[in-house]
Amino acid sequence: MTGVERVGVIGCGLMGSGIAEVSARAGYQVLVREVDDAAILVGRKRVDTSLGRAVEREKITPSERERTLERLSFTTELAELGERDLVIEAVVEDLSVKISLFRELDGICPPQTILASNTSSLPITEMAAATGRPDRMIGLHFFNPVPVMGLVEIVRTIATSDETLQTVTSFAETLGKEVVNAPDSSGFLVNRLLVPFMLDAVRLLEARVGSIEDLDRSMVLGCGHPMGPLTLCDFVGIDTVLRIAEIMHGEYRTERYAPPPLLRRLVSLRRFGRKSGLGFYDYSQTPPVAMPL
Ligand SMILES: NC(=O)c1ccc[n+]([C@@H]2O[C@H](COP(=O)([O-])OP(=O)(O)OC[C@H]3O[C@@H](n4cnc5c(N)ncnc54)[C@H](O)[C@@H]3O)[C@@H](O)[C@H]2O)c1
Repeated sequence: MTGVERVGVIGCGLMGSGIAEVSARAGYQVLVREVDDAAILVGRKRVDTSLGRAVEREKITPSERERTLERLSFTTELAELGERDLVIEAVVEDLSVKISLFRELDGICPPQTILASNTSSLPITEMAAATGRPDRMIGLHFFNPVPVMGLVEIVRTIATSDETLQTVTSFAETLGKEVVNAPDSSGFLVNRLLVPFMLDAVRLLEARVGSIEDLDRSMVLGCGHPMGPLTLCDFVGIDTVLRIAEIMHGEYRTERYAPPPLLRRLVSLRRFGRKSGLGFYDYSQTPPVAMPL
């Protein structure tokens, strides 16, 4: 094994629920922290639904599903994460929220606990600097949906120790993931390529070059992508895409990452995509229908 037995996950949204699920499926004892009981209910349901789908598709047996659920527990108390070997943070993409969380965790967890962030675009080094254990802080960037996607980006800062890198690499491999190593620069590898692609699709839509459906169909049928770029924005969360673009634009100051105004308008209307029911598409319909813009 990896020296990791008990895992903590903070946040049980799109990503946290997936990280908790794959960790429990791999045999780890997992404790998930959410902000309140209502958020725990939603997060638990997300894991339940995903495990149900895995059983239907015969990826796991009904008894593996039961054993996975037995290894998962939930809390609203951060202090309960004190006994974990590895804590993975997956809360909103906001540096000040993440920094204050890691500062608090640093006071709660024993010195050997490794702290990891699932951030897509924020500097791991700044989170590490808020703790007294920068050698045991690392980026562990999963992809959505976590149970399906095969990659994890591991982000080492100049302060991360070899031992931390080895432990976290072995942990990711026990989840059945392949690892790529990335430097602590905003967007790592995948989002340096993917974010401009999504933003360009929004820009083409704004310029009326193509409709939502045609832009998506072009990339699905013309390039063999599993989903079009606007469906992908809805899938990632339009609020999350906007935040990532703002952060990457702030870091690199190039138009490539500048968030198109339409993204802000959609977020103002709380049209976050699939998770809120409306985005570029209306998810109350089957199949989802492109929204008039
Ligand atoms: N959505 C994606 O495709 C994707 C992919 C890779 C990485 N990420 C990154 O993962 C992180 C989470 O993104 P998401 O899409 O899961 O967001 P989300 O909005 O679906 O979930 C965030 C969750 O965090 C909870 N939360 C907020 N503050 C908290 C706190 N202090 N303690 C515990 N829980 C808290 C919220 O209640 C919410 O349930 C972000 O850093 C994002 O950039 C997202």
